[in-house]
Amino acid sequence: MTRVPEPAAHVGLTDDDLALVDAARDARAGAYVPYSRFRVGAALRTADGTVITGANVENAAYPATICAERVALPYAVSHDRRSFTALAVMGTGPAVCTPCGTCRQVLYEFAPDLVVLAAGDAGVVERYVLGRDLLPRGFGPDALAQS
Ligand code: THU
Repeated sequence: MTRVPEPAAHVGLTDDDLALVDAARDARAGAYVPYSRFRVGAALRTADGTVITGANVENAAYPATICAERVALPYAVSHDRRSFTALAVMGTGPAVCTPCGTCRQVLYEFAPDLVVLAAGDAGVVERYVLGRDLLPRGFGPDALAQS
């Protein structure tokens, strides 16, 4: 866990990590959240260094809501980017925002080793590795290949 505002506490976060968190923060502006008022921004770094962002888009039929991560990732995949190194997620308020279970599964399909930077407005950034920390023993493409 690293507190972003104090430079002395940036240990463990690279400049690229911090830039990705900034991109997630900026992406929150695009959220459509009339129901929860909880804005989320996601920024996904592809293997070629491109950053693709998304924000949550809610729906009057609540379960049809799409998380920020699942706005960014399918956009990237459908534009020929299928290799990812890191994701930053920033919610609303001081608590860090970690990806929901559905988003963890969707991300795991493409990037089990993805670095996930969970951030909040208090400046705390938690750094995880998806398959190791957030979805251990996840179900992925390999499982089907063995059948
Ligand atoms: N949300 C995300 O966008 N990403 C997550 O990983 C957690 C939850 C959104 C969905 C909904 O619009 C709002 O946060 C409250 O659940």
